[in-house]
Amino acid sequence: MPHRPYIVGNWKMNGTRAMLPEARAIDRAAGRYPAVQVALAPPFTLIQAMAGEAQAIGIGGQDCHVALKGAHTGDISPAMLDDSGASFAILGHSERRADHGETSELVKAKAEAALGCGLGVIVCVGETLAQRDAGEAEAVVKAQVRASMPAAELAGEIAPGRISVAYEPVWAIGTGRVAAVADVVAMHRAIRATLTELYGEVGRGVRILYGGSVNADNARDLLAAEGVGGALVGGASLTAESFLAIVSAAG
Ligand code: G3P
Repeated sequence: MPHRPYIVGNWKMNGTRAMLPEARAIDRAAGRYPAVQVALAPPFTLIQAMAGEAQAIGIGGQDCHVALKGAHTGDISPAMLDDSGASFAILGHSERRADHGETSELVKAKAEAALGCGLGVIVCVGETLAQRDAGEAEAVVKAQVRASMPAAELAGEIAPGRISVAYEPVWAIGTGRVAAVADVVAMHRAIRATLTELYGEVGRGVRILYGGSVNADNARDLLAAEGVGGALVGGASLTAESFLAIVSAAG
């Protein structure tokens, strides 16, 4: 594996300042797992406070706009994320694709803008249950990867270590229904093949994370699976206890 396992907590629209002690506890404990790269993506409102005191973990955003500034009420630009202390952005999460109609083309433009601001990116892809049942999962995910990832010139010039893909089957998100390890391995292989098609050698250095109902009980098997470079964790990242159990399974 080219990198340390990357364990990222996506707090989604959860968390007020009352949750800062959880983040602090995660940060303190993460120092005990130097073999694991740990990060949290809280709501925008907590980024500055968390980034201001984090020592062992990275802090990131859950989205950003494609423009650096301008008349876009309610949006946050990648330059603002960077300014607030974030070091990466999760982009193209299926909840944003579904709730906000984000297309892969928009996700690609956002990824390029974020990389241009010095941020890392985690680009999310994943099929719905209907697509899996119809036998289309691999084709859907490959098409999402081809259309959502930043341009080859950019990926090659910019440290490939800053680009990750998260494979999150939509039906496994928040459902407690985790994908079978064999299916995760098969999909990660398909994603890797698509990344090398797109980027050549650089594609081998892009981390591929799994996301979807990862918890303390299933993390060890998932993280040990071939081609799995880490996990993007939703619900189980909301308490230090459950998130650190996953970090320790990776370490
Ligand atoms: O981005 C993380 C994610 O969508 C998975 O959520 O709650 O199933 O771990 P959860």
